[in-house]
Amino acid sequence: VDASPPVTNTLRLHAPPDDFFNDPYPHYAETARTGPVVPDGRGGYLVTRHAELSAIYRDCARFVSDKREEFRPKFGAGPLYEHHTTSLVFNDEPRHGRVRRRLVGALSPRAITALGAGLARYCHDLLDAAAEQGELDLIESYASAVPVRVIGDMLAVPEADRPALRRWSLAILGALEPVLSEQALEQGNRAVEEFSDYLSALIEERRRRPGDPETDLLTRLIVGDPPLDLSELIHNAIFLLNAGHETTTNLIGNGLHLLITQPESWPEDAPVEGFVEEVLRFESPNQLGNRRTACAVELGGVELPPGAGLTLMIGAANRDPRVFADPNRFDAPRSPNRHLAFGAGVHQCAGLSLARLEATIALSTWRARVSAAELIAPARWQRRVRFRGLASLPVQIRMR
Ligand code: HEM
Repeated sequence: VDASPPVTNTLRLHAPPDDFFNDPYPHYAETARTGPVVPDGRGGYLVTRHAELSAIYRDCARFVSDKREEFRPKFGAGPLYEHHTTSLVFNDEPRHGRVRRRLVGALSPRAITALGAGLARYCHDLLDAAAEQGELDLIESYASAVPVRVIGDMLAVPEADRPALRRWSLAILGALEPVLSEQALEQGNRAVEEFSDYLSALIEERRRRPGDPETDLLTRLIVGDPPLDLSELIHNAIFLLNAGHETTTNLIGNGLHLLITQPESWPEDAPVEGFVEEVLRFESPNQLGNRRTACAVELGGVELPPGAGLTLMIGAANRDPRVFADPNRFDAPRSPNRHLAFGAGVHQCAGLSLARLEATIALSTWRARVSAAELIAPARWQRRVRFRGLASLPVQIRMR
């Protein structure tokens, strides 16, 4: 008889320990050792392993994305509630599909290859400007500049209006953290309001003068049949602008951080694609997802009641030793690399080809142009559990 006491999960994502933000992975591993599906301390469950996450993503009938029930007490009835419950990622069929079908054509690998040349030129320009400065914050001047430009172009947002996008986006996505302060709620609501006003005007303008629906995402959302209502248009456009740049900033930033602190992580002769995939696994920009059970269901040996809230621990699943040999070692190119950084199933990231293209070009241009980069102050991780990225990466660089 095993007399050892049962091990229980002690990780509280709503009150993470101090050292969590610098390195959450030992905490994930400890939690995963207690089981594949463990209580989260607030009535829901953490799902810690690759097999269970994959099963959930592929079963959208029993594990639903609709967030109306859980966001009402969290956000009240304000703009944030309307935003997050209207965007496609937090909806089930048929609301999800009618938005997604409009988008995918413009985000397919074929549709976006044309962006490559312009993007490479833009990266060279950013690095030329950086070379003149000598010292710079790479998150602000490079990692975030690339995705803001790309998604801004895809929705044809006038260039002068783009600086506001990152501020709004951080406030709106920040409100998805497990704990929401009064201040974060207030800032998030205000950001949705300002963003909505801005987009209403842009949508009106685009109705009068439509862009090319092959490439312009906003025109695509507007012209499809049956039409989306104004709220669906606004909140899905906000979602695209946010999804399109926040996570990709983190992917590029996390890749640059690895290159600067562990230059051997990307051997000279290794293709950039394998490096990017391993960054996606090793420092997943989006660390958590959520689902709710639609009915009673058994998962990982645990009987879950209907309506159970599940936190899908992408960052933990991507270091699951059952799937990835030596998971805490950065190993590019790792093959196979079945990471879940983009989720899976019907909600799998619609922008994954674009994110990969942006990171591939930003990181390979960096390597072609920069001969040495040195941190001039410690890199600072953002204190957020859902998104993993750096707040700043201050460096001094020397060009080739
Ligand atoms: C490294 C960058 C990115 C990461 C790590 C990422 C991650 C994810 C993940 C994990 C999901 C699934 C959410 C779920 O099922 O719960 C998702 C959905 C989505 N992403 Fe991304 N994303 C990235 C970049 C982008 C970009 C560049 C775009 C758009 C231009 C984009 C657009 C979307 C959309 C539209 C969805 C919703 C899909 C749906 O519900 O059908 N993402 N993303």
